[in-house]
Amino acid sequence: MTDIVVLVSGGGTNLQAIIDRIEDGSLKDVRIKAVISNNKNAGALERANKHGIDALCVSPADYKDRPDFEEGLLKAINDMTPDLIVLAGFLVVLPKQIISEYKNRIINIHPSLIPSFCGKGFYGLKVHEEALKRGVKVTGATVHFVDEGTDTGPIILQKAVEILPDDTPEVLQRRVMEQAEWVLLPEAIGLIAAGRVEIKDRRTVIR
Ligand code: GAR
Repeated sequence: MTDIVVLVSGGGTNLQAIIDRIEDGSLKDVRIKAVISNNKNAGALERANKHGIDALCVSPADYKDRPDFEEGLLKAINDMTPDLIVLAGFLVVLPKQIISEYKNRIINIHPSLIPSFCGKGFYGLKVHEEALKRGVKVTGATVHFVDEGTDTGPIILQKAVEILPDDTPEVLQRRVMEQAEWVLLPEAIGLIAAGRVEIKDRRTVIR
């Protein structure tokens, strides 16, 4: 069994995709130990509660300073003894200590085809606004391992999604979620849980 902790900040549709694949049996040998949010109003916490999954909030507002918050977050994660940490719309820069303690055991979903429209400042709707502004005809989503950089870790899976003439950022975001994110994230977790993802020279090999 692979124990995962899912870190979230918002609505939690990617979390829901993971829960659904576990419940319908297509994502096997994976258990969500807990969902942790930095935002107490995150819809993702409600989704976790509804499915009987431990849901907790570790908010910077509840700590005296940043180092204190980072320690609190690390402790909350360590308490769950996860095999894998999944960032599913987690909009906090992950503390360096967590990245080094969980090296090659943290994955993130990003709503573009990395290395396009990624890095500092590219998150959520902003990514789709920039893709439309640039006029690209194809975008998509990427699941990658998390390293010290922003969206720079080894890529695990990518899926392309077409951009249509009348797209708004919201319409495009929804299509990227439906056609790419909600498919890729559970799939990547399944591949890792099955021991099929190897990291070689900062790239992945999937067997
Ligand atoms: C998703 O589109 C995810 O790819 C994005 O935030 C959204 C969260 O939605 N993540 C990033 O932009 C990370 N850079 P959700 O809460 O409904 O899963």
